[in-house]
Amino acid sequence: MKTQIAIVGAGPAGLLLSHLLHLGGVDSVVIESRSRQEIEATIRAGVLEQGTVDLLAQSGVGERMKREGFVHEGIILRFAGRSHRIALSELTGRSISVYAQHEVIKDLVSARLDAGGKLLFEVKDAALYDLDSASPKVRFHRDGGVEEIESDFVAGCDGFHGVSRPSIPSRHRHEFTRTYPFGWFGILVEAPPSTEELIYAHHERGFALVSTRSPQIQRLYLQCDPEDELKSWPDARIWEELHRRLATSDGWKLAEGRIFQRGIIAMRSFVVEPLRYGRLFLAGDAAHIVPPTGAKGLNLAVNDVRVLASAFLEYFQSGSEAGLKAYSASALKRVWRAEHFSWWMTSMLHRFHDDTPFQHRLQLAELDYVVSSKAKAITLAENYVG
Ligand code: PHB
Repeated sequence: MKTQIAIVGAGPAGLLLSHLLHLGGVDSVVIESRSRQEIEATIRAGVLEQGTVDLLAQSGVGERMKREGFVHEGIILRFAGRSHRIALSELTGRSISVYAQHEVIKDLVSARLDAGGKLLFEVKDAALYDLDSASPKVRFHRDGGVEEIESDFVAGCDGFHGVSRPSIPSRHRHEFTRTYPFGWFGILVEAPPSTEELIYAHHERGFALVSTRSPQIQRLYLQCDPEDELKSWPDARIWEELHRRLATSDGWKLAEGRIFQRGIIAMRSFVVEPLRYGRLFLAGDAAHIVPPTGAKGLNLAVNDVRVLASAFLEYFQSGSEAGLKAYSASALKRVWRAEHFSWWMTSMLHRFHDDTPFQHRLQLAELDYVVSSKAKAITLAENYVG
């Protein structure tokens, strides 16, 4: 097969890139190791920055998001048993939307397929070749045979565990990592919302987060040991911990319901530099990971792709490589801002096992500052809304 851009991975980055390239008249082929059903059902994040919402809407894939997503104009920080609102919209003029990542995936897959886009699911053993030549190749197994895509460029959008990043020789990669000594236990629950806005709770027993998906389905998280197994968290323990960590002195109540999905999420910060090797460009989780506390992961992927798509379009329209040359530095500037913000939120809100009472007091002092200083609240708000 021949195409202009071979895209490895049909996550939000790969699908949106393919969609934006198509709108600009550039041809691509997307390969994905999982099935369409699998990518459309995997539960991931849910917070879209205003810029993400605007890009999806302007590019024609925002109709269902506008109808079914929820616009939030603030978030709640809860600590020492009290709630404090960060008025995102008042402080920044922007808002966020809660709309699940797998819904974004469904919208993008259907837009690509309706436009006759080539998405190849369930491909196995993908390998990238000749990345430092003028015609890089992607080879893989599909339906029992070997296939190859020859392209002008390859976009590595296949996530943290994908093949794209390790295809860059290690001497050309600089990696920065931090692993956190805790994870998040995430559940989906059949229950009405307990709150109109997301609640980020600091508690001496560990962090908890109340998010939402729809008027009938809520998304809740609590800090856990990353080595925990699902079976060490029976329903009664989950509810007990959530009630304790979210307890307030003002009579607020968490609505319980049937838990129908559960999973443990590792917490990691990671960046690779640069985002380019020869004719391979990395975008999204293949290039960087943030802990979910800042709700930045999907938004960073979208930003990478916004910059990368326009660089590719510029190249194919005018022959100029200026955008491609600037891609890595330009995307990384935003990545590192989000890395810092996500690390800061994570450090401020979680319990670390080596925490001393001194560190606990420092966290409370920092939280208190965020909710009592307008300057500090704006810092949080403008990073949160993007
Ligand atoms: C979610 O709804 O899944 C969610 C919300 C906020 C976060 C992370 C995840 O910071």
